[in-house]
Order: sequence, then C-alpha cells, then structure tokens
Amino acid sequence: MMITIVVAVGMNNEIGGGGDLLWVLPKDMTHFKNITWGHHVLVGRKTYESIPPKFRPLAGRPNIVVSRDATLKYEGCKNVTSLEDGIKFAKDNGEEELMIIGGGEIYRTLLPVTERIFLTRVHHTFPEADTHFPAIDPAKWETISTEFIHADEKHKYDFEFIELKRIAV
Ligand SMILES: NC(=O)c1ccc[n+]([C@@H]2O[C@H](COP(=O)([O-])OP(=O)(O)OC[C@H]3O[C@@H](n4cnc5c(N)ncnc54)[C@H](OP(=O)(O)O)[C@@H]3O)[C@@H](O)[C@H]2O)c1
Repeated sequence: MMITIVVAVGMNNEIGGGGDLLWVLPKDMTHFKNITWGHHVLVGRKTYESIPPKFRPLAGRPNIVVSRDATLKYEGCKNVTSLEDGIKFAKDNGEEELMIIGGGEIYRTLLPVTERIFLTRVHHTFPEADTHFPAIDPAKWETISTEFIHADEKHKYDFEFIELKRIAV
C-alpha cells in the first residue's frame, strides 16, 4: 500500500493558523476531493475537529481519525490511537493508496514513509501561520507534474498543483 500526502502550503511551508486553514481556494478543495475520493484518509484529531460538522466525516472516503485519547469516538469514522493502527486498518481493508490529509503533526511523523505528495503551493506568505509542513529535500523528490492556476475573483492568490514522487534509492 502506497502512502501519499495531500497538502496545501504557502511559500514558507505554512499550512495553518489558529487551528484552521489560511486561505479559501475553492479549486483546491475540488482538487483535494478528486484526489482523495474513494481512498482511506488518515487525519489527526485537531484537523478532523477543524472540519465543519456538516462536512464530516468526509463523504466517499473511509475516515481514519488518530488521537491518543482512546475514549474519543467520532461517529462514522474509524477511531485509532496510533498511526500504525490507522495504516494497518487501511491496508487490511484492501486500500492501495492511503491519503494522509494532515495536519502538521501527522505530516511531520509520516513524511519519512511517504512515497507521493500532492502539494498545492499557494504563491503567498502567511506570517500569521502557526503550523508548517516540514522542508521537502529536493534531492529526495522529483516533480512529476505541475499546473499553475491564476488568482481570480474567487481565488485571492495564484497557486500551483504539484505532484512529487520520492526518488528511489
Ligand atoms: N494546508 C493544509 O493542507 C492542511 C491540511 C490539514 C490541516 N491543516 C492545518 O493544520 C493545523 C492542525 O495541525 P496540528 O499539527 O495542530 O494537528 P493535527 O496533526 O491535525 O492533529 C494532532 C493530533 O493528532 C493526534 N496524534 C498525532 N500524532 C499521533 C500519534 N502518533 N498517535 C496518536 N495520536 C496522534 C493527537 O490527538 P489528541 O490530542 O486527541 O491525542 C494530536 O493532538 C490546522 O491549522 C489545520 O487547519 C492544514
């Protein structure tokens, strides 16, 4: 089973602030939905709680929520207390590509075992950010594709869809 990260970052690898995202980019939300649809998604408790209740669990995808608190039970989700259990659950369920959808703590821990990254690069800096994605070592990742999207009335910033694949060693 492949492990894939899906993330949107600012120019300084910012991913969030005050428990929420730093931008509203509808085309990126659609991109996220298309990429993750039908796959198991693994999400940290803080990010899961940041999803508006009417949108969670995320539809069309088995949601695996990780928390160290074994008493936390989110309805309609697989609740796990370790990343290993979350990964095993997806694997045992026949998943071929597990989607890691954040947030910062989960990305940091699982980047070393990730083979593919769907990265949205938002062409702006966000000094108010308090959560960041780890630095991506260019020696370890090759760019498979890029697609640039210009800002418009619904998208305040330019952004870019980038697919990265870990270089085999
Ligand atoms: N830009 C993006 O693409 C993107 C995507 C996702 C999230 N975000 C942003 O990222 C921020 C949240 O990130 P975060 O780092 O604060 O939190 P997070 O990674 O979403 O969740 C952290 C929580 O997950 C649980 N957890 C983490 N590692 C664990 C482990 N090894 N075993 C068991 N449980 C574990 C713990 O829950 P308990 O405390 O319950 O034990 C921990 O407090 C928000 O601002 C959000 O909007 C951005």
